[in-house]
Amino acid sequence: MLGLKLLTDPRWANIAESNLEEILTDHAWCEQKAASNAIFLITNNSEHLEFVQKMSEIAVEEIQHFKMVADIIEQRGYTLGRERKDDYVNQLMKFCKKDGSRNTSFIDRLLFAAMIEARSCERFRVLSKNIEDKELAKFYHDLMVSEATHYTTFLGFARQYATDVDVEKRWAEWLEFEGELIQSYGKSGAVHG
Ligand SMILES: [Fe+2]
Ligand SMILES: [Fe+2]
Repeated sequence: MLGLKLLTDPRWANIAESNLEEILTDHAWCEQKAASNAIFLITNNSEHLEFVQKMSEIAVEEIQHFKMVADIIEQRGYTLGRERKDDYVNQLMKFCKKDGSRNTSFIDRLLFAAMIEARSCERFRVLSKNIEDKELAKFYHDLMVSEATHYTTFLGFARQYATDVDVEKRWAEWLEFEGELIQSYGKSGAVHG
């Protein structure tokens, strides 16, 4: 699925479902970070107007996702906790190429985003297929579809804008790295936990 090297053990969904308030809080902040990332990309790559327009759409969609999660938290009488750190994403960020040309770091930043969308999509799929809560199962199914589209968008832009990067080769390296990294996760009730 999406080229991922390792699929999540379905039992992770049971860990997530055992504390819905926590997974929803963590999830809400994932959506907020995705919106912030799209805005960051707009700020730093304004010369690509088509890209800026698409990132504007994604920023809106991600903050709508944040609002949808916040609405569920409110309806259920839960509390939206403070922003959660995302160790998985921080580890991926370390793999991003920051030296080299401007194009190299731009393309790697797009692949970084595609990677997170791919894993988030996969995690939402596992939730939608394995949790007992019917309302949330439907919710996660719908989000899975949306994040899959984002994954395609980021990877597509990487291919479109690469000038001095072999995107297929670098994407294969990302998938390899992520496949190793994710082996340390799958034990806690966070979207990338
Ligand atoms: Fe989202
Ligand atoms: Fe997304």
